[in-house]
Amino acid sequence: MAETEPVCDLPSLDPAAYASWRGSGIGAITEAIERRLILELVGDVAGRRVLDVGCGDGALAVELSQRGAAVAGIDSSRAMIEAARRLAERRRVDIDFRAATAERLPFPAEQFDVVVAVTILCFVEDAAPVFREMARVLRPGGRLVIGELGKWSSWAATRRMRGWLGSPLWRRGRFRTARELRALASQAGLEATAVRGAVYYPRFGVAARLLAPFDRRLARITTIGAAFLALCATRPVART
Ligand SMILES: C[S@@+](CC[C@H](N)C(=O)[O-])C[C@H]1O[C@@H](n2cnc3c(N)ncnc32)[C@H](O)[C@@H]1O
Repeated sequence: MAETEPVCDLPSLDPAAYASWRGSGIGAITEAIERRLILELVGDVAGRRVLDVGCGDGALAVELSQRGAAVAGIDSSRAMIEAARRLAERRRVDIDFRAATAERLPFPAEQFDVVVAVTILCFVEDAAPVFREMARVLRPGGRLVIGELGKWSSWAATRRMRGWLGSPLWRRGRFRTARELRALASQAGLEATAVRGAVYYPRFGVAARLLAPFDRRLARITTIGAAFLALCATRPVART
C-alpha cells in the first residue's frame, strides 16, 4: 500500500536521540526492563502476524521478527521508518515498515494476531481513535499489548515540569493511569486482561543500577510509582 498519510516528526525525538538514550547506562537498564515486560505480555509470536504501531527505529519489530513473527511496523516519522528499514536490513529480516499514522492504519480489518504499541500514546492527545484502529486490525481472539508512560511516577512529574518550562516534546506529553488504559481498551471493545507496572526507580543512573533488581517485586504490589505501564487486552471472539 502506498504511503499517503500526512506524516510528522516529534520535536527532538529522532533516531539519533533514541540511540543515545539506549547507549546511556540508565537507558540500557530501563529499555531492558520495558522490553522484557512487553515480550512477556506478547507471548510466543512464532508464526504470528504482528503489527508494531509507532515502531520508532524498529528495535522491537526486529526482535519480534527474529522470534519468528511476520511483522509490519508503522510510524508517523519518515526518519524513524528509514532507520527501522536500515536496522532490518542490517539484521537481515524482512519487515513491512510504512510511514503512516496510528489514527489511520493502512491495513484491512482483522489482519493481525498481535498489535503492540510502545510509548506512542504518550504523544497522542486523544488515544480513543488509535485504540479503535488497533482493535479494528486485530483478529477476533487477537491480543493488544500497550506500553505507556505511567502518570503517578517521578519520571512523569519531571517531564511535565519540562513541558511547562518549554520543552516542545514534553509539552505534548500525556501520562495515563492503569485505569485510563483499561477504560480506553474497553471503549474500543477489547477486554483488558492485565496492567503491569515497571521502572519504579527515579531517573538517575545510580538509582537505576541499585533499584532495578527490585522492580519485579514492586510490580507485584502496585502500578503506582511505575514510570512504565503495560496493558494486555484481547479482542473478544463474537458469539454465534
Ligand atoms: C517514544 S517513540 C517509541 C518508539 C518505539 N515504539 C520504541 O518503543 O522504541 C514514539 C514513536 O511514536 C511515533 N508516533 C507518535 N505519534 C504517532 C502517531 N500518531 N502515529 C504513528 N506514530 C506516532 C513517533 O514518531 C515515535 O517514533
